[in-house]
Amino acid sequence: MEVIIIEDARQIGSIAADAVEALLIGKPTAVLGLATGSSPLSIYDELAARYELGRVSFHQARGFTLDEYVGLLADHPERYRNVIDTVFVSRVDFGPGAVAGPDGLAADIPAACAAYETAIDHAGGVDLQILGIGTDGHIGFNEPGSSLASRTRIKTLTRQTRIDNARFFDGDVDRVPTHCLTQGLGTIMAARHVVLVATGRTKAEAVHQLVEGPVSAMWPATILQHHRHVTVLLDGAAARRLQLADYYRETYLSKPRWQGI
Ligand code: GLP
Repeated sequence: MEVIIIEDARQIGSIAADAVEALLIGKPTAVLGLATGSSPLSIYDELAARYELGRVSFHQARGFTLDEYVGLLADHPERYRNVIDTVFVSRVDFGPGAVAGPDGLAADIPAACAAYETAIDHAGGVDLQILGIGTDGHIGFNEPGSSLASRTRIKTLTRQTRIDNARFFDGDVDRVPTHCLTQGLGTIMAARHVVLVATGRTKAEAVHQLVEGPVSAMWPATILQHHRHVTVLLDGAAARRLQLADYYRETYLSKPRWQGI
């Protein structure tokens, strides 16, 4: 696991965008795993800017979103499939139908979850998965107690996650859905490269557990310690509880730039 501590959020976006750009140059048909939430926005902004400059194209690429609320109507602005369109997909040149998400309106939810796993497999698996992290250490919507081997399925959101996400529902926690569909931890672990972004002091404990804590379903993101290629991009506030923060800073400063992330 590579930990990079950067003060400027735009630079976080730029480092991650470099990895996406390099991936797409080597493999124009690459499959991207797309996270919602505020953390990845700097990445999407940077990729949209590079698309405008003609540096990067998504026209042969595919995308799979991580998760979705259950029951939000198709045109609800906070439905994650709509959110990812707004913040990223509509700003670049993905082909029609190239980005998919779990169907939170499916009549048969287990079948929809199984179909989503199959769709990811048929696309060849995710090459680069962009991730945020919840204050309770969830990734996707894999709340504490999630099976470390889980696949796409329905989950109940914790009260804390609903409180955290109430800001997207006019501050009203009762309007935040109680259930979601999420790629499982096993699904996320199958991605070939995972790039996780966390900023702000509210993420510091989750980040500490992710990087330095014991692997445990109580902090679901810790499963990433078992992944071969994870990059964790942090600002100073999110990194403030890391015991080895100085080491991570020195390591990155002396890293040969040709290595990328
Ligand atoms: C939601 C999403 C996660 C995201 C998390 C953190 O719960 N399901 O994918 O990582 O929020 O969001 P933010 O980046 O806005 O803090």
